[in-house]
Amino acid sequence: MNKTYVRLAATAVMLVSAATSAYADSLTLYCAAEEAWCQQIKTTFEEKTGITVDMTRKSSGETYAQLRAEAGNPKGDVWWGGTGDPHLQAAEEGLTVEYTSPMRGELHDWAIKQAQAANNKTIGVYSGALGFGYNKDLLAKSNLPEPKCWADLTKPEYKGHIQMANPNSSGTAYTMLATIVQLMGEEKGFEYLKALHANINQYTKSGSAPIKAAGLGETTIGIVFMHDAVTQTAAGFPIVTVAPCEGTGYEIGSMSLIKGARNPEAARQFYDWALTAEMQSKAKDVKSFQLPSNKNATASDLSPDLSTIKLIDYDFKKYGSSAERKRLLQKWDTEVSTLPQ
Ligand code: F6P
Repeated sequence: MNKTYVRLAATAVMLVSAATSAYADSLTLYCAAEEAWCQQIKTTFEEKTGITVDMTRKSSGETYAQLRAEAGNPKGDVWWGGTGDPHLQAAEEGLTVEYTSPMRGELHDWAIKQAQAANNKTIGVYSGALGFGYNKDLLAKSNLPEPKCWADLTKPEYKGHIQMANPNSSGTAYTMLATIVQLMGEEKGFEYLKALHANINQYTKSGSAPIKAAGLGETTIGIVFMHDAVTQTAAGFPIVTVAPCEGTGYEIGSMSLIKGARNPEAARQFYDWALTAEMQSKAKDVKSFQLPSNKNATASDLSPDLSTIKLIDYDFKKYGSSAERKRLLQKWDTEVSTLPQ
């Protein structure tokens, strides 16, 4: 073997190992919860492990669409947070991979049930109930009665006063669509959604945007997860949270490992850490008031107590299935969103 060849081979080995260690030291995280929580997670994990986290925050439906678009050349390693339905759809479509974390023994049954529904391709990280919130100052100023039920929101006096997200991009709004269909049946449910459409002033991209807008006085009512309404009250805005009188749906915020990840080891390390009580107990420090999936994690006293809310038996398997989610969204697009207001 001549000397030049040996030197070239050694350089190649060094380059390959440098590239490998660069990979091991980084993680691409797709985060679908609130920006402040996503930032906290990024920095805490970086400090703990020395792994650099490249984090992007998008809504649940948008993140699912990104995974699909990148399936031929995946760029993300782990998808943390966002409603469970699109995680289940991604699992069914083979966009995410199975993993059984050693942390499972510490989790609530609902988090494990979510994993079982997807052949262990996803898992529950938090939960929270759907509802709405209103700006009490604006409500009083407009002389409007307090909305207490889903049925109230279609009354003509609320025309132009209600905001919700678009269910294609937002997991919150898809949860609302699936909740209404489960509560009222599909025919009556779509009649309801059409009547509600007449009162909507804007469909936002992100699920929590409507209640942030209500906090700022830009809309009176926002249809959101109850914990997102509580965040606004905790931040000092005049927001009142409502658990709809007919009953309501809820989410199992989930986490999945992306198929074809470039940093699978770091992704599993993140996954195990994201299921710890220590990690989950920090959510309240950034005013995220979901209920944690680790039984030993502590939630804030401000977190809505699910045992006091009338919850429907949300069928995650059905409404997170690829065919059903696609069908309902298409139906909403053609039958509801195109109607004049
Ligand atoms: O972090 C707030 C939150 O409401 C989560 O509980 C939920 O999983 C996520 O946002 C949904 O966001 P979006 O509706 O934008 O997909």
